[in-house]
Amino acid sequence: MIPRYMIDFDLQSLPHMKTDVVVIGAGIAGLYTALQISEYANVVLISKKGLDDSNTRWAQGGIAAVTTKSDSPALHRQDTLIAGAGLCSYEAVEVLVHEGPERLKELIAYGTEFDKDAQGRYELTKEGAHSKRRILHAHGDATGAEIVRALSKRTLEQPNITVMENHFAIDVVTQDDECVGVIVMKPDGEIFYIESNATVLATGGAGQLYRYTTNPDIATADGIAMAYRAGARIKDVEFIQFHPTALYYPGAPRFLISEAVRGEGAILRNTSGERFMEKYHPQKELAPRDIVARAIVTEMEKTNSSFVYLDITHESEELIKHRFPTIYKFCLKYGLDMVTDWIPVAPACHYIMGGVQTDLNGETSTRRLFACGEVSCTGVHGANRLASNSLSEAVVFGHRIAERIKQLTPHGGTRMFDAREEKRSNRTVNTMEQRVKLQKLMLRHVALKRQEKGLLKALEEIERMGRYYYYQHRDREAFEFLNLLTGAMLTTRAALLREESRGGHYRIDFPNKDDLIWRKHIIQSIHEGVREESDLSNVE
Ligand code: SIN
Repeated sequence: MIPRYMIDFDLQSLPHMKTDVVVIGAGIAGLYTALQISEYANVVLISKKGLDDSNTRWAQGGIAAVTTKSDSPALHRQDTLIAGAGLCSYEAVEVLVHEGPERLKELIAYGTEFDKDAQGRYELTKEGAHSKRRILHAHGDATGAEIVRALSKRTLEQPNITVMENHFAIDVVTQDDECVGVIVMKPDGEIFYIESNATVLATGGAGQLYRYTTNPDIATADGIAMAYRAGARIKDVEFIQFHPTALYYPGAPRFLISEAVRGEGAILRNTSGERFMEKYHPQKELAPRDIVARAIVTEMEKTNSSFVYLDITHESEELIKHRFPTIYKFCLKYGLDMVTDWIPVAPACHYIMGGVQTDLNGETSTRRLFACGEVSCTGVHGANRLASNSLSEAVVFGHRIAERIKQLTPHGGTRMFDAREEKRSNRTVNTMEQRVKLQKLMLRHVALKRQEKGLLKALEEIERMGRYYYYQHRDREAFEFLNLLTGAMLTTRAALLREESRGGHYRIDFPNKDDLIWRKHIIQSIHEGVREESDLSNVE
């Protein structure tokens, strides 16, 4: 049902260019990987908006890595495995915790300035499910913005990185199960082809699958959908992380209120003013995210309310303003003063743990196609990501991708072909309206609490929309909608199959974790269908 390519084209007649490596996406994964590759090759970096418009830009909490003697890779590994609820790849986590500190140094060498205390030591914070303070941050709560600033500046200074802003990567081109290039749309709508020796998907996540998300509007599952169409394997996409605390206030967007606020002592209260997390987990407000998010929903249901409160009023004004200047100012814009007011919050979609399956060098099951950052499934996050591990994962695996691509010999060149299909219609449809409809459907049936009946209903509707829309599209908004539709189909299908609850997947009809049957991954491929792969590689 899903067409191999989203548009009709005859490759022969498209304008062509050639480069060594194409990197798609300009968050931390894209920028960092491009910089590493630029040390030995030419790179084209494609960004569907401007360089400062990625999801990374909004990351508040920070980057997790072991930097002190009181901490150790073994502790970081243990925290990551526990949060991942039995589905992390032990080897991938080992790579993360051992290589993270080195990559952090490179990030600093590229110009990133993390916050330091008066003695010149890095200020470290704590977040949910971390046993130690090991999270570096910048400008209090603007870590992502600082990383993007430093890496973009460096990228623009590199003569062998060509940055193409406001360009949209429509599809990767494959031949003989290898990726040989990318079809790209210019801002004026012109389509062209870039042939490359390797292609890196660094397209971020899929937060726009849901009506409420902390992600910007660019998070439209592009990389997952593109890779799926190209035949690459997609893994564990039923696991969606809802951040427990997004601002919930009339007229305000679902702005992220960093977990670091709870790390610095904030507590959660229901609308009757009662602190409730002790009923749900011994780590209370700092329990793994999935547990906190579901506890909040349960309290909201009990009190018949659409939010709970986050209370940090017992901390000093100085600490709040120093550690959380961005959040403080944002809330104040809406008349909420964190120093004196409880902040109304509710869960919102934040991160997708699954994605395009990769090996330990970031390569997907399609040769020469790599995936880095949120779009990938390296195995680091399992069923639930540990806070602040995403930025670390991007740099650790970005470095490995650069090392792997260095060893690739050139492919034999692209054979010309014609991808025109008669079925395609030129009708323009209002995909923005359909996007909202899809987001509401996903929120209702495929969000924090799922069950068979709702999942079947959602899948039926998604497939119906697919039959109608896959062959009618023209502009960039439509491409994004179709990518979301593919992402929604993959997530819902996997959620239906997994008849148990763990991490970012909770089934009301199967509320328990079932290690006997479900210590396995769900892998989907357009060619091979759906298969389950058992995983006994780690103990929590
Ligand atoms: C946060 O600041 O709470 C988000 C950090 C993350 O998602 O790792």
